[in-house]
Amino acid sequence: EKGNYRHFMEKEIHEQPDVLSRTLAHYLDFGTGTARPPGDGKIDFAALPRLSITACGTANYAGLVGKYWFEQLARLPVDIDVASEFRYREAPLTPGGLALFISQSGETADTLASLRYCREGGQTIASIVNVPTSTIARESDLAIPTLAGPEIGVASTKAFTCQLAVLASLAVAAGRARGHLDVAAEQALVAALGEVPRLVSDALALEGTIEAIARRLHRVSDVLYLGRGIAYPIALEGALKLKELSYIHAEGYAAGELKHGPIALIDEDVPVVVIAPFDRLFEKTASNMQEVAARGGRIVLITDQKGLEHAGITPAEVILMPEMPEAIMPIVYTVPIQLLAYYMAVANGTDVDQPRNLAKSVTVE
Ligand code: F6R
Repeated sequence: EKGNYRHFMEKEIHEQPDVLSRTLAHYLDFGTGTARPPGDGKIDFAALPRLSITACGTANYAGLVGKYWFEQLARLPVDIDVASEFRYREAPLTPGGLALFISQSGETADTLASLRYCREGGQTIASIVNVPTSTIARESDLAIPTLAGPEIGVASTKAFTCQLAVLASLAVAAGRARGHLDVAAEQALVAALGEVPRLVSDALALEGTIEAIARRLHRVSDVLYLGRGIAYPIALEGALKLKELSYIHAEGYAAGELKHGPIALIDEDVPVVVIAPFDRLFEKTASNMQEVAARGGRIVLITDQKGLEHAGITPAEVILMPEMPEAIMPIVYTVPIQLLAYYMAVANGTDVDQPRNLAKSVTVE
């Protein structure tokens, strides 16, 4: 049931504060400010030599955010690959390693094949899945559910942010177990994660602004998305959402890669969505943005008040986000890129819930 929403996608975007609350409460104890590692000690994070993450599409971008979190918060080395590459790559596996798979449906053929490869290679298998009865969940030593509820829209929205919520919680648990986070650091991160549902609601309140931006932009044929650090995977996700929903060509790049090629595309007709909270990398991204502006590029800046003040240019469009700790930024900044893709698609009249050529569950190679 879509209720008062025009599309399942719109409904699912708006469900995020609730489903994120539920998912976070499952993996975090807000009373004590601690993360609850799932699986009763099945994963010994302290002893783990390496983590490999494998997934497809949006779930793979969640995994890429996870890599930044596990490396920063837990000093845990992480490999990540898309499942269709990983399964045939004959990657050597680290003895004692943990192989983590991320899948909304739990039925994606390439992800499942990768799981079986890792099982034969003696890895411990964990999976973050939204369908607890799925094949991937059943074939895992440890299934770690996202509590997003059924996702009907073909483009993943609430499942993605719930995957991020689970990954952040796991990274905090791993950081504590590996002695990289002390009690105070863990408490601060858990408290920050506790703010996510409210901040996501604040971001949803920008819907009218974002719809207006989409109406001004939707006739373009190419869009670039830039982000640096933990915002980089969100740039990739933004571009994927836009192309699958609106059929507008879009690419996500690490902001620092701009000058290695894509800057040649910049002119007045190519909007550049810059995802740049005012964090320790802001100045770097701002200088990439200034290079775009100097070439006449039309910038859509997603930032906070301080970022806007320090941007050094006047962007064509601004999506002004609340301030928040860096660690939770990927979850909250996903909301405006979802809404932008959604409203660009609505403006273009495409079938938002059933984009052409796509299936919700990809059970063939
Ligand atoms: C994009 C999207 C796809 C899926 C991918 C993996 O919006 O939904 O990229 O993320 O097909 O699907 P699951 O997560 O079911 O393995």
